[in-house]
Amino acid sequence: MSESAKTSGLYQPEQPRLSGVERRKHALDTPFVVVLTPRSILTAVFSLGAAAFLSYSCFTSKHAEQLPKPMLEEVGRLPFMGYNTWNAYHCDINETLIRETADNVVKLGLADVGYNYVNIDDCYSERNRSDSGDIVANAKRFPSGMRNLTDYIHSLGLKAGIYGDSGWFTCALYPGSFQNEERDARLFNVEWGFDLLKYDNCAVPFDEIIKEGMVGKFTRMANAIRDVASESGRPPMLYSLCQWGREEPWLWARELGQTWRSTTDIDDSWRSVAGIINQNSFVAWANNFYGYNDMDILEVGNGGLNFEESKTHFTAWALMKSPLLIGTHLASATKETLSILKNKEIIAINQDPVVGTAVTPFRWGINPDWTYNSTHPAQYWSGKSENGTIFMLINVLSESADMSFNLTESPWIRAGRQYAVRDLWTHTENGTAIRSFTARAVPPHGVVALLLKDDGDEPEGTQPPCQREEWCMDKNGTRLDDIGFEPW
Ligand code: GLA
Repeated sequence: MSESAKTSGLYQPEQPRLSGVERRKHALDTPFVVVLTPRSILTAVFSLGAAAFLSYSCFTSKHAEQLPKPMLEEVGRLPFMGYNTWNAYHCDINETLIRETADNVVKLGLADVGYNYVNIDDCYSERNRSDSGDIVANAKRFPSGMRNLTDYIHSLGLKAGIYGDSGWFTCALYPGSFQNEERDARLFNVEWGFDLLKYDNCAVPFDEIIKEGMVGKFTRMANAIRDVASESGRPPMLYSLCQWGREEPWLWARELGQTWRSTTDIDDSWRSVAGIINQNSFVAWANNFYGYNDMDILEVGNGGLNFEESKTHFTAWALMKSPLLIGTHLASATKETLSILKNKEIIAINQDPVVGTAVTPFRWGINPDWTYNSTHPAQYWSGKSENGTIFMLINVLSESADMSFNLTESPWIRAGRQYAVRDLWTHTENGTAIRSFTARAVPPHGVVALLLKDDGDEPEGTQPPCQREEWCMDKNGTRLDDIGFEPW
């Protein structure tokens, strides 16, 4: 025991060692005596003050920190997967359609591969709140009420999501939640039974009213979700922010919710898909457990993308760790559509329980690195996964092309090792890659997704002695270029 510990009051004189039974007996035998001295009164007052201050600061700090851990662990650790009504139906939704959709999510085996949310987007409510101030489900289109619907969705083993807006109105001009955050969070979560809230950014109140900008506007609902969860003891709704990448949500939205839209609205075209891949390529580094860029609802199955483009769209979303929300009419989904949405090897990367980060570009390809180009985004990507290194190659050209890379262009590859190559679309082993890999005849706008697994040392004597030649040197000081290799 150090002198300073003794003098600072941390030192406790040694107590005689007692067994468990003896300790309990000792505790019962020892009378509890409070001696009131001016010093003990001061100490008590000080301790009470400190306790009050501590609980206050915990309460006002980052919302995530004060909910019990098991509650937090239930929502949003991985990108969420499910269905959203917007891309397929826009405002043309009703309870029968949503029940059928939920049925199809199960029947078509989509729930089995991980799609477990059924989310209702805009246009489910009446135009006005009730006299008592609540949002009301549209009486014609949702006559049985929302609780009935979420009970049904839950009875299928699925979760249910709802939509709201941080301003005066939703984007289709139904009631928004500004200044009604707590009331609406309670309605959505406790009364209606929803598990997720997509929260939009339309009908923004004037600055002189809001006086707190985008972050503040979205914080209001984060606080409401937290408070309602603490009150009800239910897990908080997964909070999916939707403000189209405005004001760099990847820098702040993780503090509030679990996902944030990083780009503008998608439409059913290759131009839109390529544009979103380009935008997201610059912020994909921000993804990790409990916080993901949302690249918007999938368009797979809606007709505007051919088979290869649809595969590229799905692969880029999954490997960049976007939430995966199906947005097509499931009752008429083709085999091709389902084969894309149900690619288990691609979904396994999106849902990796060990690695939360996304693929990022290591080389842009036809453009110089870091070029922002919405028709020709980055082509060569890699990232870590539970089982090895992921490579994603996107042919942004309108004709087929061979695509090659050196393995150590990716930081996740170990120089001096060889790798077994698994193709995540053909579901075949594609030999062993030593130093480099070439994918032949990648279709126009097509994708290649590979999982490279360490397969031991590369053959002895593989030349040049360093795959990365910059400053490569023999232990005697000879540089690579001195022994006949091209200098860096
Ligand atoms: C915004 C969102 C879309 C959709 C519509 C609904 O545009 O970005 O995803 O929710 O509103 O009106």
